[in-house]
Parts: sequence; C-alpha cells; structure tokens
Amino acid sequence: MVENKNNKAIWNTRIKKDTSSIFKKIGSSIDIDKRLFKEDIQASIVHVEMLFKQKIISFKIKNKIVWGLNRIRNEIIKKKFNFNYNLEDIHMNIEKRLFEIVGEDAGYVHTGRSRNDQVITDFKIWLRNSTNEIIGYLNNLEKIIIKNAEKNVGTTMPGFTHLKNAQPVSFAHYLLAYVEMFRRDKKRFQNNLENLLENPLGAAALAGTNFNIDRNYTSKKLKFKNPTNNSIDTVSDRDFVLDFLYSVSVCSIHISRLAEEFIIWNSDAFRLIKLSDKVVTGSSIMPQKRNPDTLEYLRGKTGNSFGNLFSMLTILKGLPLSYFKDLQDDKELVFNSFDQIKNSILILIEILKNFSPNKKRMYELANIGYTTSTDLADYIVKNYELPFRKAYQITSKIVNYAESKNIKLNELTLKELKKIEPKLNEDILKVFNLENSIKSKKSYGGTSFENVKKMIKKYKKESK
Ligand code: ARG
Repeated sequence: MVENKNNKAIWNTRIKKDTSSIFKKIGSSIDIDKRLFKEDIQASIVHVEMLFKQKIISFKIKNKIVWGLNRIRNEIIKKKFNFNYNLEDIHMNIEKRLFEIVGEDAGYVHTGRSRNDQVITDFKIWLRNSTNEIIGYLNNLEKIIIKNAEKNVGTTMPGFTHLKNAQPVSFAHYLLAYVEMFRRDKKRFQNNLENLLENPLGAAALAGTNFNIDRNYTSKKLKFKNPTNNSIDTVSDRDFVLDFLYSVSVCSIHISRLAEEFIIWNSDAFRLIKLSDKVVTGSSIMPQKRNPDTLEYLRGKTGNSFGNLFSMLTILKGLPLSYFKDLQDDKELVFNSFDQIKNSILILIEILKNFSPNKKRMYELANIGYTTSTDLADYIVKNYELPFRKAYQITSKIVNYAESKNIKLNELTLKELKKIEPKLNEDILKVFNLENSIKSKKSYGGTSFENVKKMIKKYKKESK
C-alpha cells in the first residue's frame, strides 16, 4: 500500500494541516520549473546509480527507480503527465509520480540529497546547455553581419560622434564594430561556463550527508568538472544566475544600440538604410507608413533583461545563508531572459537579412558637415612641418570660410585656399575626397578599405 496516494505533500507527516490554498497556488513554481524535467530526471538517475555503486541502495531498487524515472520522462514528453500545483515544483511532482509507479521503493531516490542541491544541479545543467545554445545563435549573428560587411567594404558613410557627422568611414567598418561587441558577449557567456561546471549534487540541505556518497562519480556522469567545495555556499550561491542575467543584459544593450541606429538611419530624415517589407509593419490609420517595429521591439526588450538582473540582485542582497524560498524566483527570471535574448538575436538576424543600405544617400551625407577637416589638418602637419594644433587652426579658418560661402570643402578652389594659407598647393584638393580620407586611415583597427578587408578575412578564418 502506497502511503502517498492522495495529493498530500510528501512532507505532510509532521505538518498536519494542509498549507493554505492561496499560498499553495501562489507559492507553487510548477508552471515555471517544469522546464527542468529532463535535467531533473537525468540527475536523479545518476544519483541513484551512484547510491547503488556505493552500496547505499540495492541493484533491484536502483533499477526500479531508473525504470520509473524513464517512464515519467516519456509521459512528460508525450504530454501525458498531470502537473499538479499542490505538489509545489517539478521535483515533488516527479517524485510523487515515482511513488505511484514503483511504490514505496521510490522513497529511496531522495537518500543523501535535498531539493536544495537537487534544484541547483538541474538548473546548472539547464543553464550550461542554454548558454551553449545562445553562443550558437551569436555565431549565426556574427556570420550575417560579416556577410553584410563583405558587400559593403566600399560603401562610404558618415561616421558620427554626438550624432553629428564626424569622419567618413566604410559601412563595413561600422558593421564590424558590432561583430566585436557580439564576440565579447560570446566570450562572456563562455566564461560563465566555468562556474556552471561545478557540481552541487551532494551538498544536500546545507551540511552535506551522512551517507558515503561519491560526488566525483556524479560530477563525471553529469558532465561537471568537479564537486563544489562548501555545502553551505553551494545551496546559497546564485552567482551563476547573476552572471547569466548580466551577460544577457550586456548583449541586449548591444542589440539595442544597433536597433536604435537602424531606427535613426531608417527615419525619413536620415534615409541611410531601407528595411524590406518583411521587417516593417503598417499603421492602422496612415496608409503610407512602414514602421520599424521589429527594431523597436529589440530596443524595448532591453528593459526586460535589466529588470530580471535587478530582481535577482535585490533578492540576493542581504539574504542570509543558506536556502530560502526567495531564491525560487531565480528560474523564472533566467527562463524569461533566455527566451528574450534568443528571440531578440533571431529577430536581429532576420532584420540583417532584410535591409539594404542607401549607398547614394550615405555618400551624400558623408560629404556634409566638413567631414574631411581632420584629413586636412593631418595633411598640413605631414607636409608643412607644422604642429597639429597650428594645423587645426588653419583648418578651422578654411572650414569657417566654406561655411560662410555655404559650400563643401571639395568645392573650394586652390585660389581661395591659398588666400587663407599661402603655403598650400594643388595636392590639397585630393585630401577632400571621401575615399582618400578612408583609404588613409591605415592605422591598425582603422577604417581603411584595406584594413576592413583584412579584418573580414580574419573574422571568417576565426569563425570557421
Ligand atoms: N522549488 C524550490 C526552488 O526552486 C526547490 C527548493 C526547495 N527547497 C526548500 N527547502 N523548500 O527553490
């Protein structure tokens, strides 16, 4: 006769009255943590295999439990499993079902462990896999940016500071700036794997266990590098959650910066890029509209990932050791940030496949705002043995003159230039050419077409 036949919680032997129904419902996390079912079953199987190896449970009981757990996995996959919020979370739901399937021997599954170490074990395994999944999406994102860059090495656009035209740059160079950002994101996620490779299983409630368990064995079987060192820290630690939420937040920032730039460039005032029909939406009243909603979605969602990070920081601040119910929210925050960053990266990839630069407009705009002034100053330093500050002054005079005449630098005649600085000769006119300006930015990491081509090659080689 199975004792756990009703919906009674497994611990309801000392606590005689049922938890108040409102808290049972609200305090239950099953709707959230059922996402951990595969990891929970995997870890429980390894746990009982270890218990058998250590002669803590018999071969027969081990087999029974493993068989029951495999059956439960199938039931959940086939959507034949009845999740019950009265049973609080995924761990208790599975354990309760195990009792129904294999009887009282199910009670051996929880020997030498607690839900406190169980939940973090599941969660770390899940996060490891999900972190690798995100790294995969970031790789795809990098590839599509590089593809766009390859097509736009020779596309000249204005580089901005303060959103004022600053200096002409290759559009590819601009795009590759984002490759650097997303590569740093990737590295951040990769670095997080280090902490995710420490095995919490066996810390039990907080003190370790009286049983002669083998934590190295479970580490190996669950693909952890080693067991955690301190059982109290193990069940209290959620630094790995913060790391993940922070990494998602930084990645979201990068996505939002690109989104914002594209929104500006796509505006009627800028017209630097065009979004294809696939990534714009219409207005319910203004028939002419093609709105960049997809980009606005990306920009907006950044708030969500910051919110999750701040929630977790706040939950942990001042929380005594070791386990408290407060910690249960960690999974909701992480799952939500994961879903969001995954969606955002996938949407961004879609946008990058469905936009085109307005090359003509980019070129025109790059030639507005005296963007080759720095080239002129540099030229004067190089050719007339003048210090940069002096050259800067001469250039300012020339820009002021052009501005007063309402003409561009490349529309100035040599005569006009000589009036301001008699030393100048015909050569100077080349300096105002946008392509020449870009070509001369040869310093490592600069925008010269040659540099950009080399960088693309380097990225492609590295991402193979
Ligand atoms: N559902 C719980 C959580 O995610 C599992 C740990 C429960 N431990 C406890 N002592 N109540 O935090």
